[in-house]
Amino acid sequence: MKHTMTIAAIALLATVGITGTSHAGAEQKCATCHNFDSSNKVGPGLGGIIGRPAGKLEGFKYGPGLSDANWNWDEAKLREWMCNSKDAVKKFTGDDKAKTKMPPQKVCDPAAQNEVLAKLKG
Ligand code: HEC
Repeated sequence: MKHTMTIAAIALLATVGITGTSHAGAEQKCATCHNFDSSNKVGPGLGGIIGRPAGKLEGFKYGPGLSDANWNWDEAKLREWMCNSKDAVKKFTGDDKAKTKMPPQKVCDPAAQNEVLAKLKG
């Protein structure tokens, strides 16, 4: 009995440890390539991105998938994009061959996505 409880306690600690690190600083990933204002870096500025038309930031040279974009960014689309931009660009354009210059970020965990969305809201 004592033994079982020790194992349960270790398992619990391990889970807390893992979720703690995987959520930490998902927005830091984005910051490698993006500013959270309207200025461009490797990628376009993400300030005010929610509700903004995709691929339209002044002065940024988008790849073909985004320069032809005709959707507005909402939270659902941003979640898909930060999980897998490669698949998302195909889905949003309806073109199986569409590509984006942004590599997939694998931020697929809803809690980590919430952190990024909070940062995007400013
Ligand atoms: C390795 C660099 C890199 C990282 C890391 C990165 N991005 Fe990007 N991102 C880009 C590039 C480059 C583009 C432009 C893509 C294109 O033109 O095809 C872009 C485009 C975007 C767009 C479309 C903007 C618009 O004006 O329509 C959004 C939204 C976005 N990124 C969000 C994110 C988020 C959120 C993260 C973090 C989870 C992230 N990006 C991480 C490079 C990156």
